[in-house]
Amino acid sequence: MPITSFNNFTDGLQPDERSRGHFITNTNLADDRLWVPYAEGVWFQPCLINVTTGGFTVILKGLPGASLGTHYHVGTVRGYTVQGHWRYLEHDWIAEPGTFIYEPAGEAHTLVITEDSPEPAIIFFAVEGGLIYLDKPVDGGFAAYEDGFTMLEFTRQYYREVGLDVSELDRLVR
Ligand SMILES: [Fe+2]
Repeated sequence: MPITSFNNFTDGLQPDERSRGHFITNTNLADDRLWVPYAEGVWFQPCLINVTTGGFTVILKGLPGASLGTHYHVGTVRGYTVQGHWRYLEHDWIAEPGTFIYEPAGEAHTLVITEDSPEPAIIFFAVEGGLIYLDKPVDGGFAAYEDGFTMLEFTRQYYREVGLDVSELDRLVR
């Protein structure tokens, strides 16, 4: 859940627990428990939590008709559609399996899984920096903030709640 007030925040790791090395992680799209609930009909599985840039990389899953609130990106985004159809209300294209998207910093958009998507959308997103949820779609003001730190905290909380191994997430922090 995005935060709405600010304070100093860290990744919660001791210096000797931090790693800069390469890693792999295995998502499991078929394991319902690994999908972290994010919004109504929208879940994610974390791949990378980048507390160096404030970004994060996730696999996002959304049911047909589900949406994410309008938000503004302070950094770039790269996305790749694995399955399903989705769009941004602010653009006239519809992403389908195989669609790659590059988003510049400074873009505000509203993600919608199309009602007629033949299956839940699954999208890989690499987000390079924080994003700001807006209180309305056009000329919106600040509603909430999200970045690598808030995603880490949110995901840790979910893992604790459902009894998943929280230390698995430490491996994804860079
Ligand atoms: Fe976005």
